[in-house]
Amino acid sequence: MGTLDGRSSEPKRAGNWPHYDGAKAGLRNYWYPAAWSKAVQTKPVSVQLLDEPVVLLREHGRVYALFDQCPHRGIPLSVGRREFPGTWTCRYHGWTFDLQTGVLKAAITDGPGSPICGKVRVKTYPVEERLGLIWVYMGEGVPPPVEADIPEEFFQPHTILHGRVTLQRGNWRYACENAFDEGHVWYLHRYGVVRTLFTAMPSWSKIKVTTDDQGWITREIEELGFSDDYPGLGRWPRKPFWKWRRMGARVSMRLPCILRVQQLPARHSNYAWYVPAGTDCYHYWQFYFIPARGLDVVPAQFYYWTYFRWAHFVQFNRQDTWMVELMPETAPERLYRPDVSITAWRKLCEQAREPMAPQRPVGEEAAASSGQAVVTPAVKS
Ligand code: FES
Ligand SMILES: [Fe+2]
Repeated sequence: MGTLDGRSSEPKRAGNWPHYDGAKAGLRNYWYPAAWSKAVQTKPVSVQLLDEPVVLLREHGRVYALFDQCPHRGIPLSVGRREFPGTWTCRYHGWTFDLQTGVLKAAITDGPGSPICGKVRVKTYPVEERLGLIWVYMGEGVPPPVEADIPEEFFQPHTILHGRVTLQRGNWRYACENAFDEGHVWYLHRYGVVRTLFTAMPSWSKIKVTTDDQGWITREIEELGFSDDYPGLGRWPRKPFWKWRRMGARVSMRLPCILRVQQLPARHSNYAWYVPAGTDCYHYWQFYFIPARGLDVVPAQFYYWTYFRWAHFVQFNRQDTWMVELMPETAPERLYRPDVSITAWRKLCEQAREPMAPQRPVGEEAAASSGQAVVTPAVKS
């Protein structure tokens, strides 16, 4: 309800995005990067994805993902042990689950004839490894190939791909909105970072948003202003003599939470995945990507390690994470013309992938035929 002083205790949205508004913990039915492959070796790794605890386990080179909560008394399976091949045992009372299906194979402390065996299952998730990363499918039913959710340029030969991941505060949706937000670029990033120190930044822009057949939406600049008279206020900005460089970038977004920035005129791009961890934090995956072969590799590596990583991924993007962290969940909003980028992104989210045709995994069929309870996490919205 609004008040005369303009404050409101309820969100006031300029549009109607029920799917997006309901996806506080993320869009399900997509593959998400969960961990570096090299980080998951002999020890289990626990990671929060879409508000669910997931444990990643490697056995004989293959990675498995299970809901990280024992159906008995809720202890994280990630503190468990391997007792038998192809299984994982909870540390508390020794319930032992099949890695592939999640079906309870033994309740060690109830003896070999325990009647509960085969009647309980912990949720398992489809897992793939690509590009040195572990990808987990967070939907139901049969997943699409993982390649459907990774930009195809990542699979080109002769490329350099570097990445980093940090856990950031704030909701993943605000991180995506900030990533595709046109207006903030010309003000937020104007001050305090080396990346724009020598750059003559536009003070305003007019854009349109285009779509392509690979699922990207892209901000296309139609008009830029660099220094203008603001009525009754004066000219802004005054151009300092050291600002000569013009920086260009082509910014795109794709479901479920992927940003692509094609740096112009340079050939490299940077990508980000804003993977929901909980409803108030997200895994910020940042990737630097450049086609390079032969001697081209040397300057590309040099540029990343001596400049781009700290100047862009750390210093420049810290301004973005700062704003996302400050964004209140229930603030009213009054959008302005440049926010056409934000509304285009919200509209895209309304077209998010539906659950794939449900097809029971092996373990669930076994569970149904034996009358076992299937233990799955509650999905929070
Ligand atoms: S809590 Fe896992 S076996 Fe008891
Ligand atoms: Fe930004």
